Amino acid sequence: LEDADVVADWAARFVLQRVTQFAPGPGRRFVLGLPTGGTPLGMYRRLIEFHRQGLISFKYVTTFNMDEYVGLPRDHPESYHYYMWNEFFKHVDIEPEHAHVLDGNATDLAAECQRFEDLIKEAGGVHLFIGGIGPDGHIAFNEPGSSLVSRTRVKTLAYDTLEANKRFFGNDITKVPRQALTVGVGTVMDAKEVMILITGAHKALALAKAVEEGVNHMWTVSAFQQHAQALFVCDEDATLELR
Ligand code: F6R
Repeated sequence: LEDADVVADWAARFVLQRVTQFAPGPGRRFVLGLPTGGTPLGMYRRLIEFHRQGLISFKYVTTFNMDEYVGLPRDHPESYHYYMWNEFFKHVDIEPEHAHVLDGNATDLAAECQRFEDLIKEAGGVHLFIGGIGPDGHIAFNEPGSSLVSRTRVKTLAYDTLEANKRFFGNDITKVPRQALTVGVGTVMDAKEVMILITGAHKALALAKAVEEGVNHMWTVSAFQQHAQALFVCDEDATLELR
């Protein structure tokens, strides 16, 4: 698509269509996987507009976020809890008990990751997982070299990710948490549908690696070549390296 705004609008309309076409019932809710970061902000804004216009309700939607930093207080402006509540959840009619974000302050982080996997299973699996990627091709915090069948777990962040995210921490790399909880590549692969948003020339190499070379754990997003219903929504700049 033309640019990041068009990508945001397109992605929001895709969610609108999937959620409104879904028929909820007793124990049947639409299950949506969600990312944070700069890329999906425009999509969230459009979804809030659609909600205000009465076009979409999140009452029968359950969400699972991809990841969360370890050790940042929940109300820290850079925590993904804070981001999700401020940028999206508080503006729509989702019920808090149905909006799941990993707890990066849990005393037992491994148990928290297992709890998250169990919750996804209990919800019946994810209908649509929306993701973003880093310039190094990471999806969620599945850094280069992550197993392509990985599940939700604690991950130490790659230097490139700390570099890319320091802009959110006063440009001070020492303030970026070193670890995060993240869904695995396998967790996202289990979703019925996956939609990955990729914008900007700085992601062009990652997109080319993801779709024009083989499946490779050094570019974890390449795993989605083997997903039955994966969609990459890109702007022109992100396609610069495609053949
Ligand atoms: C976000 C996430 C990451 C980001 C990626 C791109 O929950 O898991 O994979 O999607 O780091 O971030 P932005 O959109 O800020 O370029």
